[in-house]
Amino acid sequence: MTTSAPLGLNKTGAQMSPEDTKRQIEATEQFGPDVPGDVTRITEERIKFIREHEAIDEQIGSVPPPGSVKGVLKTGLDKMMGKNPELLLDKLGERLAYERTGVRLYEAFIAKVMAAPDARPELLGKLREIQVEEAEHMLLLKKSIETLGADPTTMTPCAHVSGTMAQGIIQVLTDPRTNMAQCLNAMLTIELADNAAWELLIELARQANHPNIASSFEEPMRREEEHLATIKTLLRDELKVQLS
Ligand SMILES: [Fe+2]
Repeated sequence: MTTSAPLGLNKTGAQMSPEDTKRQIEATEQFGPDVPGDVTRITEERIKFIREHEAIDEQIGSVPPPGSVKGVLKTGLDKMMGKNPELLLDKLGERLAYERTGVRLYEAFIAKVMAAPDARPELLGKLREIQVEEAEHMLLLKKSIETLGADPTTMTPCAHVSGTMAQGIIQVLTDPRTNMAQCLNAMLTIELADNAAWELLIELARQANHPNIASSFEEPMRREEEHLATIKTLLRDELKVQLS
């Protein structure tokens, strides 16, 4: 694994071949696009596509009603069935999926660190610590969803979307060609989003009249702030070493 991007024969820039660039520009003047029109056409097509799906009420998924009556009663039916209770369940499901994915992302990152020529036991220890905390957060979310009488194994719509978003990150981490700084940058994206999401989830739980759930999320929030600070520092150190 290289530590930094090496100097090499990268031919993607136009400056690499001024003659070809000139010919390419000439070609764009000579041959118009296959489909007439400008960028507004694709926007129109996308709007049409969205409306077609709206017309048949097709969405990315749904939130099932809580299945456990016991759970619902325990929570307080009035509170649980307040305005839009599915929103909180959707967001809890999203967080659970994200934290579960986080455990796997850290595992992929740990493999990257272990494959590096220089042994970094301290860094590995720190990453394992964060990974354990991501797993703990996942279990806390499982418990919270269960106290609302819902099924924590449900892939809620927001959980589905967050899984799609994580695909790019996992590709970066498992690509054997990516270096440490590139992987740390990917993890920074994850931790930044994680921080903002926990903050919002606490607010939503409070607003949805679930103060106990909200306060149980304060400790994970603090941990996530530490994760973010750790990844930021690691990335900064990694890049500064390359510059010095
Ligand atoms: Fe985290």
